[in-house]
Amino acid sequence: MPRYNRSLRLRSEPTRQGMARTSDEENGRSEDQELDEQPLRTRSPARPLVPSRHASASAVAKLILCGEHAVVYGRPAIALPLTGIRARADIADDQIGNGIVVHARDLRRHWRVANDPHGPISQLITSVLSYFHITPAPDLRITISSTIPIASGMGSGAAVATAVVRVLAAYLGQQLAPAEISALVYASEQRFHGTPSGIDNTVIAYEQPIWFVREPRTENQELRAESSDSSVVLHPSSPLIVPIAIATPFTLLIGDTGIRSATRLPVGAVRQRWQAETERFEALFDQVGAIVARAREVLEHGDIPALGLLLSHNHHLLQQIGVSSRELDALVGAALTAGALGAKLSGAGRGGVMLTLVTPDTRARVAAALELAGAKRVSATVVNVFRPAP
Ligand code: PMV
Repeated sequence: MPRYNRSLRLRSEPTRQGMARTSDEENGRSEDQELDEQPLRTRSPARPLVPSRHASASAVAKLILCGEHAVVYGRPAIALPLTGIRARADIADDQIGNGIVVHARDLRRHWRVANDPHGPISQLITSVLSYFHITPAPDLRITISSTIPIASGMGSGAAVATAVVRVLAAYLGQQLAPAEISALVYASEQRFHGTPSGIDNTVIAYEQPIWFVREPRTENQELRAESSDSSVVLHPSSPLIVPIAIATPFTLLIGDTGIRSATRLPVGAVRQRWQAETERFEALFDQVGAIVARAREVLEHGDIPALGLLLSHNHHLLQQIGVSSRELDALVGAALTAGALGAKLSGAGRGGVMLTLVTPDTRARVAAALELAGAKRVSATVVNVFRPAP
């Protein structure tokens, strides 16, 4: 992770105009993020008069379109941001002497970072402050809320973490590039999830459809070293991250089994099976990698029916990898019987969500079939045309 020489701004120093632009503002998301100076509060004479500040930031959910699990073993995967579903973090000055207090609304929990120093969010906050060389911890209240279902394959943990990193940076008047946000969140995910590929934090920090390879092989390393193509983004921990083109919009339905599944369990189970049957699993991962490569081509050419076939093929391979479940298979089967162009589980599997590719003609029928087959929630997302910056 690159280190920058960051100086602590005094609380009374920053103004809206004077502050470094946040990454959200750079990405054109300033409407999501406010950072205002309020009038001076009257406090007891013993306390210094400081302007009260607050800030808000958010982060998207994500879907892995294809390539999950194989991506942990160096094959490519494609992930999409879901801009309509977000985690949000708000921050404000708190009473002097309280340190940092976190309210996680959806978890109905609140805690002082000093009293829970090893919790995931506490550690993330501490590492962001240390990244900015800020000691001692200021007196802050951070409120977290999210509409992303927990442990369901939609990146809830990484989105909450990203919102927290962004809101702290905004509050402190610091500018963070997506690569820095992604690296801070990845370090946090690593501490609590073992060996994540890094795809979740990446797609959420960049908010673009991405092609992601965790440990690029030689040819990709050459590509990275030689590329003058600015669309090839280098990540500090060096995966290959390429924003990919979407030539034609398409609609995905997301069916939620309602079964929560912690990522590390299926990931750990796959690792055990890979250790026991390395050759077979390497071959399965190669087949997934080939599907992902083809999916990128069809996305770039707008061949949506071909994408559907590839998604269903990916699901068959995920079944063989051993991460589907009766509930996921029931939803995938129901979607295909109702006329969807393709369907697969998405994310770590064993529970969580599946996705299915529909047309305007089949959308309502497939949604009804998913509900009948046991989906606890069905939502739709339109993946819009996207052209990476030249
Ligand atoms: O279920 P999620 O959103 O945590 O996705 C996990 C994706 C895996 O490929 C299974 C693991 C990883 O780290 O990439």
